[in-house]
Amino acid sequence: MDRIIQHQYDQLAQHYDQRWQWYLDQTLSLLQDWARITPGDRVLDIGCGTGEFERRILQECPQQSMVGIDLSRQMIAIAQTKCNTYPQVSFQIARAEELPFADASFDRVVSSSAFHYFVNPIKALIEMGRVLCPGGEIIILDWCKNYIVCQIYDYVLKWTDPAYQQCYREAEFHEFFNQAHLTIKEAARQRPGWAWEFMIVRATGTGSGSFRQKFGI
Ligand SMILES: C[S@@+](CC[C@H](N)C(=O)[O-])C[C@H]1O[C@@H](n2cnc3c(N)ncnc32)[C@H](O)[C@@H]1O
Repeated sequence: MDRIIQHQYDQLAQHYDQRWQWYLDQTLSLLQDWARITPGDRVLDIGCGTGEFERRILQECPQQSMVGIDLSRQMIAIAQTKCNTYPQVSFQIARAEELPFADASFDRVVSSSAFHYFVNPIKALIEMGRVLCPGGEIIILDWCKNYIVCQIYDYVLKWTDPAYQQCYREAEFHEFFNQAHLTIKEAARQRPGWAWEFMIVRATGTGSGSFRQKFGI
């Protein structure tokens, strides 16, 4: 599955920002509001794509320290080009379900529009909880299957897009956080136009010590 996603986004990378400009404006401004990033925070962006989130944060806070991970080499290459004058910002190829970082390394873990590709969403959330430091926050935005238009996308994409996994109803999405031992602090749904409804969650972890006890690792 990773190869299918990689291949798909390698092909899409060059025109991604231009094609999805409206969508990126809606989703990333919402994510940015919710993330409440302060200059000292270490930020991890899962499925960072072309680094648009990082570019926007750097416009407001040029010293912000951020790491983006993604499966697609070409998406990462564009992100690196955009942010190459900021040594404290880096991008690397990695899977959401197997994060190459030590426990408790980040103050904010964010992800926008990538969750519907995760083969194992609970494992991805467990990994986010593992790398989150005590007091840190996870903020995830994705399509909301409670909305009829997202149900139609979900149905069509399952037949037509081999990289696509599924989007979720809000209750299912929240249940994943429960199962990953993350605590939801705030959640909302937002419909910026008729074409999408997004759901967003702010959650906290448990700290790496209790995390290891909970999962027996
Ligand atoms: C729709 S794009 C969103 C990119 C970016 N977050 C944004 O809002 O523009 C989804 C991204 O998630 C990445 N992705 C999908 N599954 C992934 C996984 N399991 N681990 C890491 N990245 C993944 C894809 O390669 C793609 O770049």
